[in-house]
Amino acid sequence: MPLFEASEMADVGSQGRRKGSRWPLVFLIVLVAIPVALAVVLYRLDSFEAAALPIHEFSGPTTTAAARNGHTLRGAERVGEGALLAPEDLAYDSKSGVIYTGCDDGWVKRVRLSDSVVENWVNTGGRPLGIVLDHNNDQVLVADTEKGLLSISREEGVVKLLTEEAEGVKFMLTDGVDVAEDGIIYFTDASHKYSLDDFMWDILEANPNGRLLSYDPRTNLTKVLLHDLYFANGVSLSPDQTCLIFCETLMRRCRKYHIKGERKGSVEPFIDFLPGMPDNIRYDGEGLYWIGLSTEATQSWDLALRYPFIRKLVALLEKYNWRPKMEKNGGALGVDLEGKLVSHYHDPGLSLISSGLKIGNHLYLGSIAYPYIIRLNLLKYPAQPPTTTTTT
Ligand SMILES: *[C@@H]1O[C@H](CO)[C@@H](O)[C@H](O)[C@H]1NC(C)=O
Repeated sequence: MPLFEASEMADVGSQGRRKGSRWPLVFLIVLVAIPVALAVVLYRLDSFEAAALPIHEFSGPTTTAAARNGHTLRGAERVGEGALLAPEDLAYDSKSGVIYTGCDDGWVKRVRLSDSVVENWVNTGGRPLGIVLDHNNDQVLVADTEKGLLSISREEGVVKLLTEEAEGVKFMLTDGVDVAEDGIIYFTDASHKYSLDDFMWDILEANPNGRLLSYDPRTNLTKVLLHDLYFANGVSLSPDQTCLIFCETLMRRCRKYHIKGERKGSVEPFIDFLPGMPDNIRYDGEGLYWIGLSTEATQSWDLALRYPFIRKLVALLEKYNWRPKMEKNGGALGVDLEGKLVSHYHDPGLSLISSGLKIGNHLYLGSIAYPYIIRLNLLKYPAQPPTTTTTT
């Protein structure tokens, strides 16, 4: 109130307007009061409940990579531009020189790397996300967010539904997949509550609706390995086949789940406080896991994750399509077998990067945002140790 009066008085003084013209003041009050009242009412009425997160588990000093390239778009190429709608995950068949990727229009596409020709291979009728080739080279395994876990025969392109539920709970967001040398398929359901279209609600609500699962094609059995995960996303076998590394997007972490040996069934930290929100994870056969980062850990996200009421407000904005863009500086992270961050490729102009795959000297990035795969020559544009600045 005093603020309005003061400004009006100043206005009256400088402009010499007639006293009593209070319309600007009334306007101002109405202008401010109506949206505030509306927001309060909407906030109260809205049934959406954001949960409190275990803050200490995701809030700590951000880990940084030994080498970085913060301008990954410089020198990057676009592969298959226009023919690929949000290629989320990438699987490489070295024999044919082809990348398999699942797109938003339901197509699993094949991208020939020699000339970037894109072929519509098989349409799942859903939305293929995680994708991996089996070790016999006769199946392509797909985590289809709408259908469940699928296998597609390499020769005929026949789609088969392997599983769509576990313990009586249907998958709503089948997301990441990998397959062990013994044929067991490991995959995630990011949420049993929200679908891909509504994934932002799952993030904002922040309940642990995700699960890590396995499917054994010999018995047709689906098992839940871990319940209560915070947006369970990418999963990768370790090269020695003893454990899985899986990403929990919301918690900015990857954890290790043992599938063999004395510690079978136990879970331990792998990387905490990642410099961004992790999506898919892939092992490159040369000592590094590559993790797609959809966004860096921005201050706005950190605040939102800390305070449920902020997430509820953001959810209200989301509902009316007013949510400000909070994702930036996405990219990919190379991490060694001990969980040490080796290299980080990112760019302020990148967001919603979902996967990083290293093939030869190139890094390929998939996303849920762009109509192409991004390719970067790592020899020409390497990540480098940050230069130390000396202050005098
Ligand atoms: C697994 O399911 C298939 C059908 O998809 C069936 O033909 C097969 O007999 C089943 N195997 C077992 C061990 O139940």
